[in-house]
Amino acid sequence: MNDTFLRACRGEEVEYTPVWLMRQAGRYLPEYQAVRSNVDFLTLCKNPKLAADVTLQPVDILGVDAAILFSDILIPVEAMGMRLEFSEKEGPVLSEPVRSKSAVEKLTIPDVEEDMPFVFDTIRILIKELENKVPLIGFAGAPFTLATYMIEGGTSKNFLHTKKLMFQYNQVFHYLMEKLTDSVISYLSAQIKAGAQAIQIFDTWAGILAPLDYKKFAFPYVRKAISELKKEGVPIIYFANNCAGILGELKKVGDDVLGIDWRIDISDAIKKLGKKIVVQGNLDPCALFLPKEKLEERVKEILWKGEAAKGHIFNLGHGILPQTPPENVAAMVEAVHTYGRKK
Ligand code: CP3
Repeated sequence: MNDTFLRACRGEEVEYTPVWLMRQAGRYLPEYQAVRSNVDFLTLCKNPKLAADVTLQPVDILGVDAAILFSDILIPVEAMGMRLEFSEKEGPVLSEPVRSKSAVEKLTIPDVEEDMPFVFDTIRILIKELENKVPLIGFAGAPFTLATYMIEGGTSKNFLHTKKLMFQYNQVFHYLMEKLTDSVISYLSAQIKAGAQAIQIFDTWAGILAPLDYKKFAFPYVRKAISELKKEGVPIIYFANNCAGILGELKKVGDDVLGIDWRIDISDAIKKLGKKIVVQGNLDPCALFLPKEKLEERVKEILWKGEAAKGHIFNLGHGILPQTPPENVAAMVEAVHTYGRKK
């Protein structure tokens, strides 16, 4: 197996800089669209054979150095008792948002194997099929990001409901975060037991908080989840979107790899984080719309700057956009493999 990605996660010597992409299986790929034309998104997530097939698509088509389980961060939210739908226009919709103590009380900590068997079946299929290829990354949403979806009922602009709960009923907010943290720990432990060789925790909305609120309301929970999951012995990646203002805290979160977005120069992030952590990122997803030479220049710059870190895994600074031309993505992967550090 090509374990370059796993070695880079551990900060070991690698022959070249490994690359994968957040949302690498998805709508920009015609092969994904073909599968999706017959099933809706949630059905696809819950069908282990199909979910495994689309997980493998970018590995075969692009030659990335890791596969990421095809699923969604909101699957365990449904297992905690909320009704989940995906609308083509609005994205995820949770029809009865959690905004009171009684609503939090009603949420259950899922029996993960029992309530989401398809996730672990997908992982078991993938481990067999990926044997001679690349490692499999499992994932979950970070407690804070999951809380925003549960409280807002979907995506939001100002996150007013979330912040009102935090500021006006902070005990209820903390109670919700405790339940989410327990769920995330048992969900990810089970993914690792089923075979996931690394895990990524997505904190898409970490950067909407003032640093002091991140420190108080989000950080303690993700740190707890990471310290528990460390016992499982696989590399842990924490992706914090819009991370620039909270790097001081992120340095202390305890993960092996920190995923950063593109709004900060990777050199500045590395300077602030120091030599103890591997960095993942951070090409602007829209850079995939640049002419090829310009795209290559940006790839080279990130690769070159990334060498200052303990280790570097190339990725985008957030998920790939559905409008992205697949040939540009292939060119990016090739550029990383061509120009990445060589020992
Ligand atoms: O990275 C991968 O290829 C693995 C699959 C994956 C999906 N979602 C598939 C998906 C992963 C890791 C996620 C994580 C996820 N889901 C996050 C965190 C990462 C991020 O992008 O910030 C979040 C916030 C979600 C919630 C979610 N799921 C939203 C807001 C949406 C709608 C917007 C969108 O991009 O479509 C989804 C839907 C979704 N999740 C799709 C896919 C492939 C599109 C569904 C479709 O086929 O129509």
